[in-house]
Amino acid sequence: KMNKFISALMKKMTLEEKLGQLNLPGAGDITTGQASSADIAGKIKEGKVGGLFNIKSVEKIRDVQRVAVEQSRLKIPLLFGMDVIHGYQTVFPIPLGLSCSWDMALIEQSARIAAIEASADGINWTFSPMVDVSRDPRWGRMSEGNGEDPYIGAQIAKAMVKGYQGDDLAKNNTILACVKHFALYGAGEAGRDYNTTDMSRIRMYNEYFEPYKAAIEAGAGSVMTSFNEVDGIPASANKWLMTDVLRKQWGFNGMVVTDYTAINEMVDHGLGDLKTVSALALQAGVDMDMVGEGFLTTLKQSLAEKKVTQQQIDMACRRILEAKYKLGLFDDPYRYCDVQRSKTEIFTAEHRKAARATAAQSFVLLKNNNVLPIKKTGTIALIGPLADATLNMTGTWSVAADFEKSVSVRAGLQKAVGNNAKILYAKGSNLTADSVLEANSTMFGKSLGRDRRSPEAILKEALAIANQSDVIVAALGEAAEMSGESSSRTDIEIPQIQKDLLQALLKTGKPVVLVLFTGRPLVLNWEEENVPAILNVWFGGSEAGDAIADVLFGDVNPSGKLTATFPRHLGQVPLFYNHKNTGRPIEEGKGFQKFRSNYLDVPNDPLYPFGFGLSYTTFSYSDVKLSKATFKPGETITASVTVTNSGSREGQEVVQLYIRDLVGSVTRPVKELKGFQKINLKAGESREVTFKISADDLKFYNSDLKFVAEPGDFKLFIGTNSRDVKETAFTLTN
Ligand code: IFM
Repeated sequence: KMNKFISALMKKMTLEEKLGQLNLPGAGDITTGQASSADIAGKIKEGKVGGLFNIKSVEKIRDVQRVAVEQSRLKIPLLFGMDVIHGYQTVFPIPLGLSCSWDMALIEQSARIAAIEASADGINWTFSPMVDVSRDPRWGRMSEGNGEDPYIGAQIAKAMVKGYQGDDLAKNNTILACVKHFALYGAGEAGRDYNTTDMSRIRMYNEYFEPYKAAIEAGAGSVMTSFNEVDGIPASANKWLMTDVLRKQWGFNGMVVTDYTAINEMVDHGLGDLKTVSALALQAGVDMDMVGEGFLTTLKQSLAEKKVTQQQIDMACRRILEAKYKLGLFDDPYRYCDVQRSKTEIFTAEHRKAARATAAQSFVLLKNNNVLPIKKTGTIALIGPLADATLNMTGTWSVAADFEKSVSVRAGLQKAVGNNAKILYAKGSNLTADSVLEANSTMFGKSLGRDRRSPEAILKEALAIANQSDVIVAALGEAAEMSGESSSRTDIEIPQIQKDLLQALLKTGKPVVLVLFTGRPLVLNWEEENVPAILNVWFGGSEAGDAIADVLFGDVNPSGKLTATFPRHLGQVPLFYNHKNTGRPIEEGKGFQKFRSNYLDVPNDPLYPFGFGLSYTTFSYSDVKLSKATFKPGETITASVTVTNSGSREGQEVVQLYIRDLVGSVTRPVKELKGFQKINLKAGESREVTFKISADDLKFYNSDLKFVAEPGDFKLFIGTNSRDVKETAFTLTN
């Protein structure tokens, strides 16, 4: 039915109208305040626009849609896209934080709620999920991904797609997902955004592709190209990537959109002029051109010169029309423009409750020397540039947020204690000593506001309240926009001015809790050595302050686990748990060893390993039991452990399964995550946790890029993080 409808429509379309469908200008009213294309309404009337993005509000979208369906010749409705990345107006934790919940149901629910709110406000397409694996915390966009591991990345990719698209894309509260950034955007050289990527294909397939592929298998309707090159060809012109891998190998049949001006940027990459690179992009398998208008302005001539074919243009146009069809826009172009819904389904009490609960699950307790949880009595000194900052709670890419409505730490703590405790607040320091860095770390032009008093005066005020307190809560770290797009850093520590503040607070002799805001793994050696308690809260979203209060006061027991390694030193980067052994590994527990693979000055291991996170209770693990030690393809074995809550309060634990393939036709990582279960245990309670393992779980891409399981010996580990595990062994026979 869809094919017939679209074929009939395309028969009526002129070449110009077909090229118009491939054009995606930005409405610009969110990020830049300016439209990316002059006279958008005029172009829509002429049939030169396929969709618009980052236009906000159901009324505005309805008006623009009306222009398309009433004033253009063929009345083709528009797509309305937006960066709905971690929630819409109800903002959930940044994706890196969300991933640390290891809770797929919760993650799916966050995407579901985002879809409900966005679709109630006119949006039918989100540029999410971002599933780029990254091992380099210098890269600012680590905040937007799911960390370093392809396995959990793939589980999250599936959950997000399901949450956005539901079981029927045509429903008015489901939206089209867009998997991004295909591919390898997280592996840019030196952690610099937009930088060159270069890696072997075997690494791509084994270590980076899995989350993209999982999203496609989950039915994601669109894919966004990445800015970087892959194998010397920018992704947007890379036919191997966009056609051979994506469509032929993975069976993707949706539409491919470029990232923002990614086609035009291929001129600077050095592939030719705009006409040339636009033709290359179409030939590679790109369907829609975001913002740059290279397709709109050059493809007609390229067709005349036989540089592209009519069939290639038709194919791209068809895929875009198909997306519109699947969204139900041809039945009802205003399907997502229900003004009533926009009044009742956005930022609801129910959604905010879910965001609060989810945020608490994303926090990772990195250290606790018997300071947390704190009591709701006495005097609490709340100090730090992020303590009273509504603007920074939502984190990067929260374009639909109303920042002023976020719950600050101060508001959250105050609400939680009521009149039972005294909360004293002081800023203590600016975010950075460098006003330029601070000015560039604003939320879409909204600055936190720099305190113009002398640093000494700001500190003095803080020490005065610190000295009166029973406990100090120091809300420190990165400003929200110190991570995210175009926010790479060469120094991944807490800014020095805030460290000075922390040191001064510790000198008071009062117990100090560091509530750490960050969008990436930081280097925290000094803090680990000196601060009694560290709670990493990422950027928790619009309800962050309440969620932080929930965890600080112990109403919620923290259970988040890191999905990205925290290094001891920036010089160790890239540092990730699933590395190779090398021919000269160091012996466990030994310091520096000459002629082994290590550093003179810093050990190889991280400060906080992948999978790490503490709780207010403790968990003990029994030895691992295997149902049998040998099995063959087609069979399964089970591995089980008994986990006991050995502490004095209820808590959740993420039980993690890792496998090592000891001998292969190609070298294999020292550990790979292959399963996890999040369980809840009452104090003293024990539970047997069982994992099923089949030959499929042992498969990897060999030198011929064939996905195989090779018979041989394996190690199996189960534990509380990637370092602290119980170990056993099994064999896969022929
Ligand atoms: O979706 C984003 C992408 O992640 C980065 N460049 C801009 C796009 C649209 O806003």
